[in-house]
Amino acid sequence: MQLFMMKIMRSAFLKNAALGLLTTGLLAACGGGAQSDGDVWSVGTEPGFPPFESITNEGEFEGFDIDLMRAIGEKAGKTIEFENLPFDSLIPALQGGSIDAAISGMTITEEREATVDFSDPYFKAGLAIAVEKGNTEIKTLDDLEGKKIAAQIGTTGADTANSVPGATVSTFDSAPLALQELANGNVDAVVNDAPATLDAIATGNIPGVEVVGELLTEESYGIALPADSENVAAVNAALAELKTDGTYAEIYKKWFGVEPPAQ
Ligand code: ARG
Repeated sequence: MQLFMMKIMRSAFLKNAALGLLTTGLLAACGGGAQSDGDVWSVGTEPGFPPFESITNEGEFEGFDIDLMRAIGEKAGKTIEFENLPFDSLIPALQGGSIDAAISGMTITEEREATVDFSDPYFKAGLAIAVEKGNTEIKTLDDLEGKKIAAQIGTTGADTANSVPGATVSTFDSAPLALQELANGNVDAVVNDAPATLDAIATGNIPGVEVVGELLTEESYGIALPADSENVAAVNAALAELKTDGTYAEIYKKWFGVEPPAQ
């Protein structure tokens, strides 16, 4: 029974990932997404990243980032329209002006800050190594030398994997697809954001996989906006309000089941 349920959940999970890609393709085929007027913020996200962003069976966006962004929109007097985009298209879309913001568990990095602006940090995360359950050989990044690693394309996880000498890195359009590659035994490890990997394991979506060792990095997620966007201040003001009025804590508890860590 349990195995049966797990299989169903797993296939629904992969279907969601595939659906995300399909929607993206359709949007691209139609020549782009929502045009933003003054009252609407078009916000890009790659929704294969629960519990931060995913798409329900009914096709709705949901997750911590989704609730947070909607709450920010409410404070700022804007309607939020989410746009499903591949992760590595988010920054180009911001640069091209086709979206007003991106929320996608995106780590604030110096490299990205050279091309886009970020809000204040809203979540502390870090990368973790996932391996096949019972693998005792791999614990640290050094142990990945010469090994096969899967990661999501365009992410800090992929960058970190690519920094390992002699490793063969294969990149995937979504983190679930990279993790599935590990579950299938085609790679030795996945480097991905710890909260997302732990969620995939906890929900039974990726059987036979575990997280090992310590976090490889300390990263902070931020909402990305076009360089010099006039909306940065409004987003930061809204975020600060949500932190003081308890809304942030409420959303955090809804998705992580615990109080947020002290800032
Ligand atoms: N935090 C990592 C990065 O910024 C991974 C984010 C992936 N997000 C997603 N929605 N798939 O590179």
